[in-house]
Amino acid sequence: MQALILAGGKGTRLRPLTVYTPKPVVPICNRSFLLYQIDTLRRAGITDITLSLSYQPYKIEQQLGDGSEYGVKINYTVETLPMGTAGAYKFAEDLIREPTVVFNGDILTSLDLEAVIREHNERRATATIVLAPVENPSAYGLVETEADGRVRRFLEKPKADQISVNTINAGTYVLDPRVLDFIPAGENYSFEYGLFPDLLRRGESFFAHVPRDTYWIDIGTPTRYLQVHHDLLAGRVRGVEIGGRRGEFDAATAAEIDDLSLVADGCTIKPGAQVLNSVLGEGCHIEEKASVFNSVIWPHTRVGAGAQVSNAIIGRGCHVGRASQVGAGAVLGDKTSLTDYTQTGGAL
Ligand code: GDD
Ligand code: MG
Repeated sequence: MQALILAGGKGTRLRPLTVYTPKPVVPICNRSFLLYQIDTLRRAGITDITLSLSYQPYKIEQQLGDGSEYGVKINYTVETLPMGTAGAYKFAEDLIREPTVVFNGDILTSLDLEAVIREHNERRATATIVLAPVENPSAYGLVETEADGRVRRFLEKPKADQISVNTINAGTYVLDPRVLDFIPAGENYSFEYGLFPDLLRRGESFFAHVPRDTYWIDIGTPTRYLQVHHDLLAGRVRGVEIGGRRGEFDAATAAEIDDLSLVADGCTIKPGAQVLNSVLGEGCHIEEKASVFNSVIWPHTRVGAGAQVSNAIIGRGCHVGRASQVGAGAVLGDKTSLTDYTQTGGAL
């Protein structure tokens, strides 16, 4: 079994965070996102991994290299123009020799991948798709199944009146290499609008795997990016490892950092400052009496004296001026500088 991670999207919904950092390597609890997917694959014994890139590929290659640091072997394919999800798999054809696990490069899950592979093999399926239940399927691919687990219908981004079930495509597939023959070469083609409906028309054995008690989230919007942090900090994601909560940093004795928060190396936290249910990247400075609640702050950002940051995401190398109030929903791109006393709106 080998793996292909689709990591070529532009991450438009996570802008401005993805202007300088492609979505596959945005930090999640201070680790590059793709490392969580690599963990999942390695745990299932899969070490031959192809990363399918298009947007800012060098930044991703620079961080992950050949994978040896993470106990895997990483190959890269780089599309000059995005080929679509299935087109990207076809583009990697020369590297594909065996059944392959394909991941959307923006989902974090506690999935038991070995169980998926076992089921795929037992059913001798051409393709297996993992499902997740969600409240509103409209932003996803809706999947209807038969009682025996066969996929009956696949409908990407369904309209309100087309929503018949709450099970969606979780962005994890096991594909037999024979499906490569069903994907046109050299053109933009997607699994969601192209291959999956086509497999159904052809009557191929296309099965769904429904995991039990499994955490699943697509990290591709600011709300969900923040949500995954809160879930990880609260320990709601069994089986997914985050880094240590405390790096080596300087904190005044009169500062408060709660047990949930994660503070990386090289941070400075001044007297009277509070850091609650939040993540601070390397080298952040939190000045006197500043507070950071329920927020994620990327490395080398400074929060000025008395400033309040709440339910916000702040990029790398930012400066939040003194006594500023950065409220719920704020997302600041790298190198943002807020004048003292700024108010972004949003609840604190
Ligand atoms: N290499 C490559 N080339 N990767 C791509 C391309 C491409 O042309 N287009 C998208 N990707 C990657 C993205 O980087 C992302 O990791 C993944 O494919 C899915 O793309 P998104 O843009 O995030 O899609 P989505 O979230 O709207 O919907 C998809 O994911 C849902 C689950 O999160 C679909 O697969 C839905 O059916 C699914 O429910
Ligand atoms: Mg997505």
